[in-house]
Amino acid sequence: MNTPALATTHLTISCIGAGRLGTTLCRLLLEQQSDISISIRQVLNNSLESSLKAVEFIGGGKAIKDSERLKSADLWLISTPDDAIQEVSEALAQSGVLTPGNIVFHCSGSLSSKIIRLPDDQCYRASVHPIHSFANPEKSIATFAGSSCAVEGNDQAVKVLNSLFSAIGGNCFPLRSDKKGLYHAATVMACNNLVSLLAISKQMLTEANIDPAQQEQILNPLIRQTVDNYLTNADPAASLTGPISRGDQSTVETHLDALSSEPQWRDAYAALGSVAVGLARQQGFATDEELRKITDLLTRATDD
Ligand SMILES: NC(=O)c1ccc[n+]([C@@H]2O[C@H](COP(=O)([O-])OP(=O)(O)OC[C@H]3O[C@@H](n4cnc5c(N)ncnc54)[C@H](OP(=O)(O)O)[C@@H]3O)[C@@H](O)[C@H]2O)c1
Repeated sequence: MNTPALATTHLTISCIGAGRLGTTLCRLLLEQQSDISISIRQVLNNSLESSLKAVEFIGGGKAIKDSERLKSADLWLISTPDDAIQEVSEALAQSGVLTPGNIVFHCSGSLSSKIIRLPDDQCYRASVHPIHSFANPEKSIATFAGSSCAVEGNDQAVKVLNSLFSAIGGNCFPLRSDKKGLYHAATVMACNNLVSLLAISKQMLTEANIDPAQQEQILNPLIRQTVDNYLTNADPAASLTGPISRGDQSTVETHLDALSSEPQWRDAYAALGSVAVGLARQQGFATDEELRKITDLLTRATDD
């Protein structure tokens, strides 16, 4: 299969699912000023009204109302919600507009390019996950540059997409297709689950009869200092403080007693505490015996 996309200085892109991410990326690609010029060919959303709105924001492309009206393009961005990607790729295959060498890609964080159900001899498949919140496209146009982008898929497609996303300011890095789920879970752990952890912390302070204003005064400086330490050190082991770091078993025991009536809090404390034991071991402040006893306490608490 030849690769027209690699051999040309002008590329056409059509977008299926031009919502928050799709409209932002199409506009950035249209406006970028690298050696490769881009034109937006067609935009297809669920409703024609939504496609027309997307085209207006992008500043290019033609809104169409169904996949039967699709015309050829070099690249195909499927930026529907994740659940629709497979079905849309199947409809794209059936439309008969793909030509060998076309690149079809999506931007899901957790799904790999394998979700694109197209024969390898029909196109090159890839995914690019920009680590950026596209809540407000107007704002994202101004703030996208500098965002990291995980790229995986067919080598030829990855090469072209690396060039295009670099041209709009993305910091592209390669990711193995079979590691995509793990990679995405890691980002959720650092972002969404961190928020859940802070929610538990607030619930515990409420249970301790501390009013919301006081909770903020207690937690906010602590959160800022911890995140700041972590970002400065770039090493979790160098940032850990507290009872487990010191090998203070009696404090851990007091905490587990206080949490015993609320299994969700206790289990979260024990699971994260076990991770802290590993970090404390690297730090070397606590003795092996102290850390072994803390591990026993944490394990017994969740065995109950
Ligand atoms: N938003 C983010 O911050 C972010 C960040 C990284 C990655 N992503 C990924 O980017 C992708 C898009 O997310 P988003 O937040 O931009 O979604 P979104 O704002 O909800 O937009 C989805 C668009 O897809 C269209 N659509 C839905 N089903 C369709 C179908 N079957 N055929 C054609 N069009 C269809 C919708 O059209 P209508 O308007 O007509 O309903 C809408 O315009 C997802 O894969 C997501 O995981 C998003």
